[in-house]
Amino acid sequence: MLIFGAGGYIGPVVTEHLLGLGYKVRAFDLFLFHTQTVLEGFSDNPDFDLVTGDHCDGALVEAALGGVTDVVILSGLVGDPITKKYPEASKAINDDGMLALIDRLKGRGLDRVIFVSTCSNYGLIQDGELANEDFDLNPLSLYAKAKVAMETALLGLKGKVDFHPTVLRFATAFGLAPRMRFDLTVSQFTREMHLENDLLVYDAETWRPYCHVRDFGEVIARVLAAPAEDVTFEVFNAGGDVNNFTKQMIVDAILEFLPKAKVAYQEHGSDPRNYRVDFAKIRKRLDFEPRFTVRDGISELIAAFKEKQFAEVDKNPNFHGNYEIDYTVANKQ
Ligand SMILES: NC(=O)c1ccc[n+]([C@@H]2O[C@H](COP(=O)([O-])OP(=O)(O)OC[C@H]3O[C@@H](n4cnc5c(N)ncnc54)[C@H](O)[C@@H]3O)[C@@H](O)[C@H]2O)c1
Repeated sequence: MLIFGAGGYIGPVVTEHLLGLGYKVRAFDLFLFHTQTVLEGFSDNPDFDLVTGDHCDGALVEAALGGVTDVVILSGLVGDPITKKYPEASKAINDDGMLALIDRLKGRGLDRVIFVSTCSNYGLIQDGELANEDFDLNPLSLYAKAKVAMETALLGLKGKVDFHPTVLRFATAFGLAPRMRFDLTVSQFTREMHLENDLLVYDAETWRPYCHVRDFGEVIARVLAAPAEDVTFEVFNAGGDVNNFTKQMIVDAILEFLPKAKVAYQEHGSDPRNYRVDFAKIRKRLDFEPRFTVRDGISELIAAFKEKQFAEVDKNPNFHGNYEIDYTVANKQ
């Protein structure tokens, strides 16, 4: 198993889950946010190895693919703000580099190829509507536009490749991991409210789906274990109906634990995304229901704060959020 982007927020949790299920894992990451420590815990595991580098580096990708049967693609410049801030790097990594990477997967007898996309692809949908996998895509950011383009490229390979691709549109992640990202809503709100900072919530009635990082590990395991005909060239929303939340619902859930927290509200923020997502397909086809609710994620994070974990976030914000990169676009394909 080769996991591109194993060294970020979701990757180490997926790595741990798959190692626990007996898979051999080769992690591949450029460590754009200097998060090398998040994989250190696996270094003594004989079923684990690490390739450090850029997924745009064709020769390195070729070498990393040696002996591999399945591929999970998590790597990329992740999030609307950072892709807006670094459009050239975004194009090189999320569009050109990813297309070249997908091209390199052909003709090697690979089995499963899982491309991790995002429910952000739905963008803005009418109140009262639920987006299933056939819903019109309306990507609003460079980040989501690249994901839609890569989905289209991958799904367009039907009949032309020897591997079994699956697209997973992940909900927004929450849950404990070595690289907590406090630029994601549930974790950000919980942290600010725990610190009793003034939290300003924009557009409190907008909906999003959320999913615990450990549940993502299980989603990937389900795709790997499913009969090929159930997952090949299929798209799945990855999450569960129980975790469709408005921002207000998240705040209210946190207030149950932290009643003294200070929250203010404002309309017309800069992020217009509003989408409720239908998770019936993954429930029916892969028998997947999340084990963890948003409330569970809040509770475990508050417990971690009480144990003084993540006390250094302000000293090293980039480790805990996708804010700044130092990336030189080079043609290594
Ligand atoms: N976090 C979420 O809420 C969320 C929601 C939906 C989808 N996703 C998707 O899940 C995946 C993982 O997200 P995350 O939150 O762990 O993000 P992350 O930014 O923490 O991790 C991404 C990793 O990819 C690596 N990477 C970036 N460019 C690379 C390159 N050119 N070569 C090699 N490695 C590279 C980074 O160094 C980083 O470690 C992404 O594909 C993201 O789009 C995440």
